[in-house]
Amino acid sequence: MKEAIAVENIAKRFADVEAVNDISFTVDKGELFGFLGPNGAGKTTTINMLTGLARPDSGTMRIGGIDCTNRTMRAQQLIGVVPDESNLYPELTGFDNLCFCAALYGLSKKERQSRARELLEAFGLTQAANRRFGSYSKGMKRKLTIAAGIIHRPEVLFLDEPTTGIDVASARQLRQLIHDLHRSGTTIFLTTHYIEEAERLCDRIAFIVSGRIIQVDSIENLLQPFQARYVVQITYENTANGTMERLSKEFPYLEFSSPKKGIIQVDGNKPIQAGAIVHFLEDLGVEVSEAKKIRATLEDVFVRITGIEANAMREDKEQGGMG
Ligand SMILES: Nc1ncnc2c1ncn2[C@@H]1O[C@H](COP(=O)(O)OP(=O)(O)OP(=O)(O)O)[C@@H](O)[C@H]1O
Ligand SMILES: [Mg+2]
Repeated sequence: MKEAIAVENIAKRFADVEAVNDISFTVDKGELFGFLGPNGAGKTTTINMLTGLARPDSGTMRIGGIDCTNRTMRAQQLIGVVPDESNLYPELTGFDNLCFCAALYGLSKKERQSRARELLEAFGLTQAANRRFGSYSKGMKRKLTIAAGIIHRPEVLFLDEPTTGIDVASARQLRQLIHDLHRSGTTIFLTTHYIEEAERLCDRIAFIVSGRIIQVDSIENLLQPFQARYVVQITYENTANGTMERLSKEFPYLEFSSPKKGIIQVDGNKPIQAGAIVHFLEDLGVEVSEAKKIRATLEDVFVRITGIEANAMREDKEQGGMG
């Protein structure tokens, strides 16, 4: 069977909040599927329903072909969950936490200990194995929480914002671990608000905003309509009066804009001769320091499709969720 997760018309309301509003999607076996959206979009609510922590108001869900809309027990064995906030015990050591989780999944004592050691090693936590989980740094906590989520080698892994709130180096390490898990065949459902992370890791992405899926497709297909655009960004040191008007007059088939101070963006529907524009600017007395071709990114697609500025989304999150 090809399908790992199937969601049909799932909805969940909290009082007057439509947290998840009639969403449907499927995730293939072995796929790394991204759920990308801003604060309050309904990402965690969706994971909670799929993993049995919340019951949908309507709709159906299957994991590995097993209907888990009402009874999740049989699907539980197939899945691993890494919540956005750790569910491990602060008073237990890293090693004991992993052994405890392994026991919950019925691994034998010998298996528990060898699997715990193996994962501590793989996540670079061997040195901290006998320290209390409560004394771990944020990045170490996140790593151990992920290790606990995969202790029973689940077929389908749910990761809720795995790299939020940890330092750049740890986040990079975790992305590599997620990539490796994906390569080894695990189906992964990942929520994130980092567009670059989704672009780098995921096979397919759903944009979720206000409880609704706005678009779901492969990165390649999402980017496709944007590949036909040609964009050049010109960075300058000083400007001259009326530069933009004169550019538009000289190159009427191109579109000029200024996304921020010190930058002129040129959009065209044919390849752009950046040299001619740079010469023209220099003749006007503008000192150009750089001209570079810009490749469309998922961020462009996201902003275009959702109408949400990616920066706004990022700042929202850093203020609300990091700390
Ligand atoms: N237990 C609850 N009771 C009431 N409202 C809730 C509950 N859980 C979620 N909500 C609301 O449902 C909406 C979706 O929340 P959810 O946590 O799923 O968003 P999210 O996409 O995970 O956001 P974030 O990026 O901040 O983690 C929000 O408006 C939230 O306030
Ligand atoms: Mg969330």
